[in-house]
Amino acid sequence: MQGLLGEKRREAVLRNLRTDEGTLSQDYLAAARSVLRELVAVPDLVQSLPLSRRPGCYARNLLAGDDEVSVWAMVWGEDSATSIHDHHCSCCFGVLSGTVTETWYRAIDATRAVPTGEQRREAGYVACMLPSGPNIHRMRNFGPGDAISIHIYGFDHRLHASSIETEYTAVSEWSLPPQPVRESALHVGG
Ligand SMILES: [Fe+2]
Repeated sequence: MQGLLGEKRREAVLRNLRTDEGTLSQDYLAAARSVLRELVAVPDLVQSLPLSRRPGCYARNLLAGDDEVSVWAMVWGEDSATSIHDHHCSCCFGVLSGTVTETWYRAIDATRAVPTGEQRREAGYVACMLPSGPNIHRMRNFGPGDAISIHIYGFDHRLHASSIETEYTAVSEWSLPPQPVRESALHVGG
């Protein structure tokens, strides 16, 4: 068991994330949501830790981890961004401070994706997703200043370098060849 959180809190976080159903279950997502809500409610707890920062990039700080889950504090330097990616494991996050902009995508093939929506995630926001659901996204910090978010992943940090399964290149819907119009669509309102 490793991480920046104090031993007692680290054990409590990992204990609260343990479910009989494993990290691909709704029980686990509910547990992760509850842990995230508790952590983002007391931002000083994580902000007082010796978090590493990388200007213009995001820095990952392991808060707690065992053989099933890992909990990270991401410090987002101004103008930092992830790639467009999906996940090989459950991915849950909460915003502790600042604003993180999340853009969602839909894959059109194995390497390309089109944007489908974008939201500003403010401090206190919590989201949880399974790898089997729609989960292609990109996160950015447009500033001003750093943002910090907490991420809980269903992977052993000693076995995987990250939660990323596949990285995509963004393409505009307008650059795609036109789709054939379905016969039924020609008669809508007809
Ligand atoms: Fe992600």
